[in-house]
Amino acid sequence: MNKISVAVLGATGAVGQRFVQLLENHPWFQVTAVTGSERTTHQRYADACRWILPEPMPETVKDLQVLSSEPEQVQAPLVFSALPSGKAKEIEPAFARAGSIVCSNASAFRYEPDVPILLPEVNPQHARLIDDQRKKRDWRGAIVTNPNCTSTGMTVTLKALQAAFGLRRVFVVSLQALSGAGYPGVPSLDILDNVVPYIQGEEEKVEIEPRKILGELAIGEIAPANFLVSAHTNRVPVSDGHMVCMSVELDQIADLPAVRQAMEGYAPPSAILELPSTPRPVLIYRDEPDRPQPRLDRCTGDGMTTVVGRLRPDPLFHIKMVVLSHNTIRGAAGGSIYNAELLVQQGYLA
Ligand SMILES: NC(=O)c1ccc[n+]([C@@H]2O[C@H](COP(=O)([O-])OP(=O)(O)OC[C@H]3O[C@@H](n4cnc5c(N)ncnc54)[C@H](OP(=O)(O)O)[C@@H]3O)[C@@H](O)[C@H]2O)c1
Repeated sequence: MNKISVAVLGATGAVGQRFVQLLENHPWFQVTAVTGSERTTHQRYADACRWILPEPMPETVKDLQVLSSEPEQVQAPLVFSALPSGKAKEIEPAFARAGSIVCSNASAFRYEPDVPILLPEVNPQHARLIDDQRKKRDWRGAIVTNPNCTSTGMTVTLKALQAAFGLRRVFVVSLQALSGAGYPGVPSLDILDNVVPYIQGEEEKVEIEPRKILGELAIGEIAPANFLVSAHTNRVPVSDGHMVCMSVELDQIADLPAVRQAMEGYAPPSAILELPSTPRPVLIYRDEPDRPQPRLDRCTGDGMTTVVGRLRPDPLFHIKMVVLSHNTIRGAAGGSIYNAELLVQQGYLA
């Protein structure tokens, strides 16, 4: 198969760099264009980008010129967007109108009725919203999104519980890594020796997105799942890996071994297992009483696996546990690449 040319919009930022790094040697996709803001356009990528990842910058992108984020400048059938939400709102539709499939990390379109929030191991059928989106918006391309980085791991876990027992109420407290705020992100004097109990817009996202992702596909929209989420979100001095302490009221009461078995045994549709980025395994349970931990567990399954531990009874709800996932891999660039693979498999991208 010839590789599909891809452009990374916002390629110089924290998520953009992850895209560039994860797409090196991807079996289906090849980065042929990178974009930035006015600050970096016209520069060589290696000069424009303050590389913040431990893995080296791929040789193949170093000499690419950073382009402005306009379809007139960048022609690619597949576009990964790591743009700030405000810019995504105007730039992503321009690419979809020009015929590109846009796999976006930004929140700009997540709550539009005809735009899916995809997690391939959870709701691959929601990709069919693309057909309605194309009719409604009269464009040849499409916009699909991945969830907010905190919603990602908890929604994979909730899917397993919903499928086995049903869900009524979910209460979560997040401990979110610094890379979730982009680069340069939170000033060091604000976060060293500290926890910041406010992340703008985050609690609303975490309360809405799991219900859409776990909802039913209807004509032209998703009917949200019938449970409620209450979220507290906090920034902590960790580099990568978002942790979520989660209490859940189930529809049908279940004992702890059954809950654990439902989570560990959760199997996505078999076609999903063929995608290159499918987490192997989708979800892993750690037995140690003090796991998962961001530094030790975030790279499980190449950063794509959701790691769960500390399952125990909850005196207010039914059960409680701790969930961890890598925010810039599973919760951002890796998740978006995985979504694009799903769209190839479903015939939306040739
Ligand atoms: N970080 C995470 O864990 C995470 C997880 C999920 C979703 N997201 C979402 O992903 C997106 C990117 O986040 P990030 O953390 O990578 O942010 P970031 O580090 O601040 O990077 C922003 C990128 O957008 C570019 N940009 C800024 N203003 C622009 C403009 N006016 N026109 C074109 N490009 C512009 C920047 O280019 P220059 O370098 O040229 O300024 C940079 O490449 C955001 O929507 C964020 O909410 C992030």
